[in-house]
Amino acid sequence: MKNLGILLSGRGSNFEAIADNIAAGKLDAKIAVVISNRADAPGLESARRRGLNALVIPSKGRPREDHDHEVVAALRAHQVDLICLAGYMRLLSPWFVQQFPNRILNIHPSLLPAFPGLEAQKQAFDYGVKVSGCTVHFVDADLDHGAIILQKTVPVLDTDDDHTLAVRILEQEHIAYSEAIRIVLEGKYSIEGRRVRLA
Ligand code: GAR
Repeated sequence: MKNLGILLSGRGSNFEAIADNIAAGKLDAKIAVVISNRADAPGLESARRRGLNALVIPSKGRPREDHDHEVVAALRAHQVDLICLAGYMRLLSPWFVQQFPNRILNIHPSLLPAFPGLEAQKQAFDYGVKVSGCTVHFVDADLDHGAIILQKTVPVLDTDDDHTLAVRILEQEHIAYSEAIRIVLEGKYSIEGRRVRLA
């Protein structure tokens, strides 16, 4: 069984969806550790309630490399095979990314490369796009940038505001992340440049 390490900074609904899929037998993996850079992240409390190892490694006011070294040490201590960024609002240092080549995933609430960064759903809504969605991708040293594993589309309705759009995108995120984790853990893909081919 493969070990997952989850990094989060906030609400943790993507983490919860992954944990629920594991509990329901839909995803064959174990969450070895949940790490937050913020002590007040609701996702941490949820991890504790589920009886998971939940660590706070505060990032505020610390040099990125120092913080990243501590996080990597914790991931190694828990023998993590795959790292899932789940609303982890920090850019990983190039050193961190090099420690786990093609072993770090991120989810982002837009169809990348459109609307990287913060409040992607609002960015998309304000831009006036007719279709948005979410992206699960390998992590590289650039923000919301690595090779794309899968995307789910969500139509923008005339009745939407940025909030209702974000809610429907989040529903798709919760499906997409576990699908992508399954693909990666089962090794059913190959990477050619930026293109991830699914087997
Ligand atoms: C999710 O919408 C995720 O896609 C986004 O943060 C939210 C976290 O929600 N991530 C990014 O914007 C990464 N650039 P959650 O804590 O409920 O999973």
